Amino acid sequence: MKILVVGSGGREHAIIKALKKSSDAETIYALPGNGGMAKDAVCVPIGAKDIDGIVKFAVEKKIDFAVVAPDDPLALGAVDALEAAGVPSFGPTKAAARIEASKVFAKELMQKYGIPTAKCRVFDSAAAAKEYVKTAPLPAVVKADGLALGKGVIIAQTLAEAEQAISDMMENKVFGESGSRVVIEEFLEGPEVSVLAFTDGKTIKPMVSSMDHKRALDGDRGLNTGGMGTIAPNPYYTKDVAERCMKEIFLPTIRAMAQEGCPFKGCLYFGLMVTKDGPKVIEYNCRFGDPETQVVLPLLKSDLLTIMQATRNGTLADCPVEFSDGAACCVVMASNGYPQHYEKGFPITLTPDTDGITTYVAGAKSGDNGELLTNGGRVLGVTATADSLKDAIAKAYAAVEKTRFENAFYRRDIGQKALKMER
Ligand code: AMP
Ligand code: GLY
Repeated sequence: MKILVVGSGGREHAIIKALKKSSDAETIYALPGNGGMAKDAVCVPIGAKDIDGIVKFAVEKKIDFAVVAPDDPLALGAVDALEAAGVPSFGPTKAAARIEASKVFAKELMQKYGIPTAKCRVFDSAAAAKEYVKTAPLPAVVKADGLALGKGVIIAQTLAEAEQAISDMMENKVFGESGSRVVIEEFLEGPEVSVLAFTDGKTIKPMVSSMDHKRALDGDRGLNTGGMGTIAPNPYYTKDVAERCMKEIFLPTIRAMAQEGCPFKGCLYFGLMVTKDGPKVIEYNCRFGDPETQVVLPLLKSDLLTIMQATRNGTLADCPVEFSDGAACCVVMASNGYPQHYEKGFPITLTPDTDGITTYVAGAKSGDNGELLTNGGRVLGVTATADSLKDAIAKAYAAVEKTRFENAFYRRDIGQKALKMER
């Protein structure tokens, strides 16, 4: 089969490597991919948001199956357009992608169907939002309605910070139209758990749980980033929590989406917080997480292509989705200065992939002589699998030590919180 994967980051590299293991996979195209994926996929310079370009390419190349990984093309209707052109595709429709693309949609869905989440109010005027925060409990969580590269959430400790966040989003439009409406919600406390799940709209099969490390610096300090590293499984996701999530969150969510006339097909990401009142939804994403995918897919024992086809075809109930009992750790190596300003263009020395160690390439490109150069904030996701979390962490950091590029920076404590919890 000829397969197309839309996207260019570490997540897409992990998806491509997993698809490659399928005996049915002949050629995999990455649109646009990156220089570090060239061994695993044919990279084609068509941007992930160029929906017309993607559809034209897929039709011309007679692509048998397409996987749309990032949120932007999904929210723009890439899957609707590909399917309309006769290309079977993995991912939610534009209508179903609203579960991530509009926080207001997601919050209203949860309220209507009794799915546990933080209490919230929605505002489309800055004046009304500012009036409300005067009496709202602190910290207050201020969220832009639309997509904002994971940066549209401000946890305001003071009234002044809350007012500033409202001004920035609604008046100064720092996230463009994404901030035309804001959600102001109650601050929740507890460990966070990411759960990615395959769903065909009727059946839902969760993958192994994981834990992201969103802050830039050790000890969860510094700015929020797209994610500085992950481990799987997440020890806070106990059997009891998993059962509650299935009953109170996962099944009600897919039933709600079907009820609303936009059944969700694809990978649904549940960003959860295990509060003292039970698990609650912090956010939904309409796609695989990055860098969660880099620890989840290496533990997948079943065939990813078969699962994706079953998800798309509505036959997930009959399709096994099995994970190994081991653990995985992904350490993101970033450019110094990320998530703000950083330099690019430094040569990268990779650690060769071996059994249980894989480097997923995110922000890199090929230089004129075929060498790999840094080209983004998050550059590499160095990932190891092992029988235990402790060994996976040790293996991942040993590989990180051997991986080099100028100005590299990474967190040294990925997985430590989870290890402590395990003990
Ligand atoms: P989001 O983009 O919605 O995932 O939010 C980014 C991060 O902000 C989350 O991973 C949480 O750490 C934090 N966050 C979001 N909503 C809340 C909330 N209601 N209470 C506490 N922390 C939150
Ligand atoms: N790692 C968080 C996300 O993919 O949104």
